[in-house]
Amino acid sequence: MHILGISCFYHDSAACLIQDGTIRAAAQEERFTRKKHDPRFPKNAVAYCLREGGIEAQDLDYVVFYDKPFMTFERLLLSYLTVAPKGVRSWIEAMPLWLGQKLNIPKVIQMETGYEGEVLYTEHHEAHAASAFYPSPFDEAAILTIDGVGEWATASYGFGKGKEMTLLKELHFPDSLGLLYSAFTYFTGFRVNSGEYKLMGLAPYGVPRYKDLILSELIDMKRDGSIRLNLSYFNFLGGLRMTNRRFARLFGGPRRKPETEITEREMDIASSIQAVTEEAVLRMVRHVHGETGQENLCLAGGVALNCVVNGRIVREGPFENLWIQPAAGDAGGAMGAALSVWHRYLGNDRVDPEGKDVQAGSYLGPSFSNEAIKTYLEGKGYPYHLLGADQRAEAIARQIADGKIVGYMAGRMEFGPRALGARSILGDPRKEETQTVMNLKIKYRESFRPFAPSVLEERASAYFDAEGPSPYMLLVANVREERRFPQPSGDGMPMLERLRVKRSNIPAVTHLDYSARLQTVNKRDKPDYHAVISQFEKLTGCAVIVNTSFNVRGEPIICTPEDAYRCFMRTEMDVLVLEDCMLFKEEQPAWKEKGDWRSELELD
Ligand SMILES: [Fe+2]
Repeated sequence: MHILGISCFYHDSAACLIQDGTIRAAAQEERFTRKKHDPRFPKNAVAYCLREGGIEAQDLDYVVFYDKPFMTFERLLLSYLTVAPKGVRSWIEAMPLWLGQKLNIPKVIQMETGYEGEVLYTEHHEAHAASAFYPSPFDEAAILTIDGVGEWATASYGFGKGKEMTLLKELHFPDSLGLLYSAFTYFTGFRVNSGEYKLMGLAPYGVPRYKDLILSELIDMKRDGSIRLNLSYFNFLGGLRMTNRRFARLFGGPRRKPETEITEREMDIASSIQAVTEEAVLRMVRHVHGETGQENLCLAGGVALNCVVNGRIVREGPFENLWIQPAAGDAGGAMGAALSVWHRYLGNDRVDPEGKDVQAGSYLGPSFSNEAIKTYLEGKGYPYHLLGADQRAEAIARQIADGKIVGYMAGRMEFGPRALGARSILGDPRKEETQTVMNLKIKYRESFRPFAPSVLEERASAYFDAEGPSPYMLLVANVREERRFPQPSGDGMPMLERLRVKRSNIPAVTHLDYSARLQTVNKRDKPDYHAVISQFEKLTGCAVIVNTSFNVRGEPIICTPEDAYRCFMRTEMDVLVLEDCMLFKEEQPAWKEKGDWRSELELD
């Protein structure tokens, strides 16, 4: 039985293939088209999934779309009518896509893939909820999904048991925590639907001086964590901008222009909205615990990517265990929709998870064999060194220990926004300059942005106050007390100067507040990466390395050896590893390219 799940036409399109209940393949379209958050029909991702599954479109038993387009259409229509004629411009811009592709999903699927069978639909939050529960390690769990916008529901909760899933309640548009966070992302000059992560990264630099203002003026937060927005400050209904002049007056002036200097105001705003979000989510979590009486919690939806909130749920929440779908945003909807068909529509039981999730480390994308890589490198005349199995990990670890920045591509590509050691750039966390060098010379992005550590799962507690594993880099934990260095008071100190103060003995991955966005690496899911970190520990005594996604700013994470080589040559990366092949920058022929490649990338 082959079921294909598809999510598209909002942002971050994706496809996922389930074969006899097993997650066989999943990938985001952006990785193939090289257009970040590509919302178009995931033609390439579908083709990849079919290839990986060894089937043709005609062999599919079901295709399922993760959203009911008619319900979303109705919401748009009603909200535009509410504010008419104010929303006419964005209405006109949205309509061609709605009337054309979104309302004709079966036709689009048939045209793009050749599949002529039945097309099913799940509701948006049903897809998110299914993506959180069915792959989780729990036989029974509460489910919470918190999102920007999808259909009418912006958050929902319920519970799952075996193959059954029951959604109890929904919060409706426009009262959305995700949308509120996005409004602040917009106001602080970052890109909505991708800059939320930056806002979270900026929060520790500020103080939450606007928190009370947000709570008293902008929203009404209930005991159960649900919120009502004061719509007189927002512009989601009527226009293309998210906040209005009244909003700007409340925060002492207009929105920060993108790419201009980040001031204390933006840091304080970031800190404030993060604090409000944490409070709302923790209230929701407590409420869901009370309503469901479950011990385990599954999370999905865009807000579940806020790993600072997640860290607090683990530390403070009433739940014993937490599992988060790594592709928590809309891409994961493709997986949830397909799993929903298998378990809910067709009534198939779940296999006993025996305490392990079935996401397989989220390594669900394409891989490339050594043969394919050698053929590519030799065809292009790019010099490389073939590493034998016995020296591979050590050779790579030695480069990192020597302070080199290493591009690392091995095994199947990750599904979801985080790079987990299959498409990663690696560095030495003990060196203070790693953060600045990686930000400015490799990623070409703001130097305040912190990096994440990959640590051997079995050694995590020696470095971090971590409660349990964090294989998907979705939890924040603090660096252990004895590894920290005291900090000067931050008042009035410019951001760049504060960055230069050494915070711990793994400074490149320690955030201002001593927190770190952790990935624990286990041998079962990622043996090659585990071996590299183990060797690094043998050489240096440190079981942690810096892991950042293999891309430059504004570019999707690399997928193929070609993408990897291009990124390697465009940046000041020193070494490139493609499976067992190692390349040194100084041995490569000069890189020539027409025009300025940076102008092709969208700022995020
Ligand atoms: Fe969503």
